Amino acid sequence: MKNIVLTGFMGTGKTTVGRILAKELGMKLVDIDEEIETENALSICDIFKEYGELAFRDKETEMAKKVSAKGGLVISTGGGIVLREENIACLRQNGLIVCLMATPETILQRTKGTTDRPLLKVENPYERIKELLAQRSACYRSADIAVETDGKSPVVIAQEITEYWKTVC
Ligand code: S3P
Repeated sequence: MKNIVLTGFMGTGKTTVGRILAKELGMKLVDIDEEIETENALSICDIFKEYGELAFRDKETEMAKKVSAKGGLVISTGGGIVLREENIACLRQNGLIVCLMATPETILQRTKGTTDRPLLKVENPYERIKELLAQRSACYRSADIAVETDGKSPVVIAQEITEYWKTVC
């Protein structure tokens, strides 16, 4: 069976929706960031701090390749997975790419108060979110399906994805 690969900006709900989807469909959830943290025995923040973003991106690519080799998974990715085409190419070989979308305002609300996102540890997170979204929007839009998440609960979002999944799997 193919994988369901959740992409999207930070705070679009990939991990929460992934957990619900996996339970509903009886599939295993794999979170790429969590796998990287476990393999390195370090948080994402500490990996950024100690080795820098480029080293994190290399670990992300390596993990994307590793999980793509398996099937029947719900794969939750980090928001920057789309930055390297090779990541999406390998995840797509055996997976449906589902991108969760949200406005910068919603993303700000959902990420406010969280401390585990090194890229948002800046004076003006709202500006940063808008800037990164602008840089990445074409990459997110290249998904097989895009799901708007503004004003929807994770359960409703998971239902929308499940309905689509059942028509294509
Ligand atoms: C990142 C998103 C984070 C994490 C890292 C970088 C990004 O994951 O991979 O901090 O570049 O957008 P979440 O999208 O799960 O927050």
